[in-house]
Amino acid sequence: MKFQDMTKTQMAELKKNLLSQYQAFKAKGLKLDMSRGKPGAKQLDLSLSLLHFENIENDYMKGPDYRNYGLLEGIDEFRNLYAEILGYDPSDILVFGNSSLNVMYDYISQCVTHGSGGEPWLLQKDVKFICPVPGYDRHFAILEHFGIKMLNVPMKNDGPDMDLIEEHVKDPSVKGIFCVPQYSNPDGITYNADVVERLSRLKPAADDFRIIWDNAYNVHHLGEEQDSLPSILQECSKHGNQDLPIEILSTSKITFPGAGVALLAASKNNIEAIKKRMSIQTIGHDKLNQLRHANFIGDARGLKEHMKKHAEILAPKFELVLGILDEELSEFGIAQWNEPRGGYFISLNTMEGCAKRTVQLCKEAGATLTPAGATFPYGKDPKDSNIRLAPTFPPLEELGKAMELFCICVKLAALEKLMA
Ligand SMILES: Cc1ncc(COP(=O)(O)O)c(C=O)c1O
Repeated sequence: MKFQDMTKTQMAELKKNLLSQYQAFKAKGLKLDMSRGKPGAKQLDLSLSLLHFENIENDYMKGPDYRNYGLLEGIDEFRNLYAEILGYDPSDILVFGNSSLNVMYDYISQCVTHGSGGEPWLLQKDVKFICPVPGYDRHFAILEHFGIKMLNVPMKNDGPDMDLIEEHVKDPSVKGIFCVPQYSNPDGITYNADVVERLSRLKPAADDFRIIWDNAYNVHHLGEEQDSLPSILQECSKHGNQDLPIEILSTSKITFPGAGVALLAASKNNIEAIKKRMSIQTIGHDKLNQLRHANFIGDARGLKEHMKKHAEILAPKFELVLGILDEELSEFGIAQWNEPRGGYFISLNTMEGCAKRTVQLCKEAGATLTPAGATFPYGKDPKDSNIRLAPTFPPLEELGKAMELFCICVKLAALEKLMA
């Protein structure tokens, strides 16, 4: 029965019952963490052989000595590997250090101080960015840090609202958009071909507009049914817009977060401009780690096989979470959620005005979730409804407990709201 159809007495009775279940959870003194999209320990174990750098003499002495300075753009083995994976030319790719977030921060920072083809953003009166919402909190943090005004654009089932984006780009102070186009964080939505096409055809009033294409989850499928995403570089090129996209990836959730390799793919003009600035920042990134990764992953097929092993660990976690949500919440009309085919998150919308309270109730009983509001610019979810669930890190048993508690809290928060 839907909560909204219950009488006051039925609600009071249910609330009493839920409160006693809640108190029982609280008494257990649990410490559960579903707050961040981190791989679990078993996933990290899959890449342990990376630490054994075998045949090191043969590998790093073949051509240029990778132990030494040089090769700012990255080693051929790694660029060739990602060129094969992405269907690009190796010259479209620049290899960086251990974090794609750092590459994005740095790119925005350089646009602020030196511009992206035009005047530095710092010297422009009003600089704005389009932010599909809900979205990735750390993108929003970068923009907030640089005082760039964020414009919320709602996500639909096939990507962000393109009508609204096409309106926004008529304003010359709108300089770009942050996208997580495949298995988005947090919705798990993949932009469909029409959305990618419309993005690639944009004619922004700002001639230094950039699409930051954070393709963090491009190979992170959960099963055999997989989403596919057109290449933004190729689509933009078709429309003479090759300088719009900056595509960013990393191996963080393929091997080791924080000890992987980040990379960027872009047009010749963009690669040249970025490389020029990079030459002032560093003499070169960690080529030994690039080589380790190129050897470990091998080729596109090797990557596919490796990601299947991740999926074998992750799929049961997603199934467990979705199963519990379905069993505990589906009949009450108080929450909706996505069933993603990949990525790291499940995004759930509570009744309006209930997300913060749900997260607070969970916290007080020992389960930490991503703070409510984090999936929106400035931490402000206008409906106070979206909660990002991150099922990858906890072991299955803990995850089950956390989800049972979570569902109790969603129901309690909804009842409090309805009875107020
Ligand atoms: C969409 C997205 N981009 C980037 C990152 C961070 O990637 P990296 O470890 O390469 O900095 C994350 C991590 O959760 C993410 O969800």
